[in-house]
Amino acid sequence: MADKIASALGSDSNDYYASATTQTFAFIGLLWLSLKIFSFWRMIASLFILPGASLSKFASKGSWAVITGASDGIGKEYALQLASKGYNILLVSRTQSKLLELAREIKEKYNVETRNMAMDFAANRDKDYTALKKVIDEVGDISILVNNVGLSHAMPVPFAETSEQEMLDIITINCTGTLRVTQLLVPGMIQRKKGLILTMASFGGIMPTPLLATYSGSKAFLQQWSTALASELQPHGIKVQLVQSYLVTSAMSKIRRSSLLVPTPKQFVRAALGKIGRSGGAQGIMATSTPYWAHGIMHWAIATFVGTMNGVVVSVNRKMHEDIRKRALRKAERDAKKQ
Ligand SMILES: NC(=O)c1ccc[n+]([C@@H]2O[C@H](COP(=O)([O-])OP(=O)(O)OC[C@H]3O[C@@H](n4cnc5c(N)ncnc54)[C@H](OP(=O)(O)O)[C@@H]3O)[C@@H](O)[C@H]2O)c1
Repeated sequence: MADKIASALGSDSNDYYASATTQTFAFIGLLWLSLKIFSFWRMIASLFILPGASLSKFASKGSWAVITGASDGIGKEYALQLASKGYNILLVSRTQSKLLELAREIKEKYNVETRNMAMDFAANRDKDYTALKKVIDEVGDISILVNNVGLSHAMPVPFAETSEQEMLDIITINCTGTLRVTQLLVPGMIQRKKGLILTMASFGGIMPTPLLATYSGSKAFLQQWSTALASELQPHGIKVQLVQSYLVTSAMSKIRRSSLLVPTPKQFVRAALGKIGRSGGAQGIMATSTPYWAHGIMHWAIATFVGTMNGVVVSVNRKMHEDIRKRALRKAERDAKKQ
């Protein structure tokens, strides 16, 4: 009799624990799902519904914007679109003739003031930075900085075979150049308690990219640096935002025709300037935006369902870049035969 009571009690408590465990897992599952659904709708609202902050919140009309790597591709488009909004433009890039041509176009189309400074960021010369500082001091009220200058590998290449020059150029341009220009401008922005600093990043910096390892590392550096800087400068009224991007048609990407996933620089920059302060596809990453809609959905989906540092993602990325390298080598061979 006692045995029967004990066994009945035992089976009741087993049932109780089983049901409590099921309920706990169901609750965790529901919570996880709710957070993902919330994050999805935030991403959709951020990309398609909510407007970004007005530029005038950080930069008064008639003040200056500095754009590095301004003579081509995405940088040129930042210069044109900021000029169209009434900002005077300081163009910084390597080739003087291209800068002069762009300055003329800006003046003609938008009737704002322009200055330009030709310098090679790869050379990392103190005298160039001193000359740039002189121009910055002369123009005075600079409220926008677009850290756009960047260099990638000429073609995907295993790290062991990357030339020392290419490795150094990528780090010097993407990291050192960005830091040095920003340091020239931040004190003035702190003094005026106003400013906007946008830095061009890349999906290569979120997802480790084999065969573009140095470029990938340089852009990951910019992610950490820019987010840390955003926190430092927030109390001073300065907005710092990292702008994430997948491919865009340009000389760097070597893609000429735009598609659903590959916008033109004009489409990309319109999205970037229209979504200041919005995360887009970079949900949960402080002071970061993936503003172009197709890039945003892609960023969100990879981060949410697989993880950007996941081994499968890195393997797929490696295979893709191995294929690109094979095609690039075959093309180089064909071109060499033609000569
Ligand atoms: N295009 C993409 O698919 C893509 C994707 C993700 C992120 N991004 C990022 O977006 C930014 C712009 O890329 P983009 O595709 O527009 O590049 P791009 O078309 O190759 O233009 C690069 C610009 O930087 C200048 N530049 C290059 N090397 C320089 C140097 N050593 N010193 C001074 N200026 C130099 C170029 O000047 P010159 O014309 O005088 O050479 C040009 O104005 C980069 O930071 C890149 O990493 C691009």
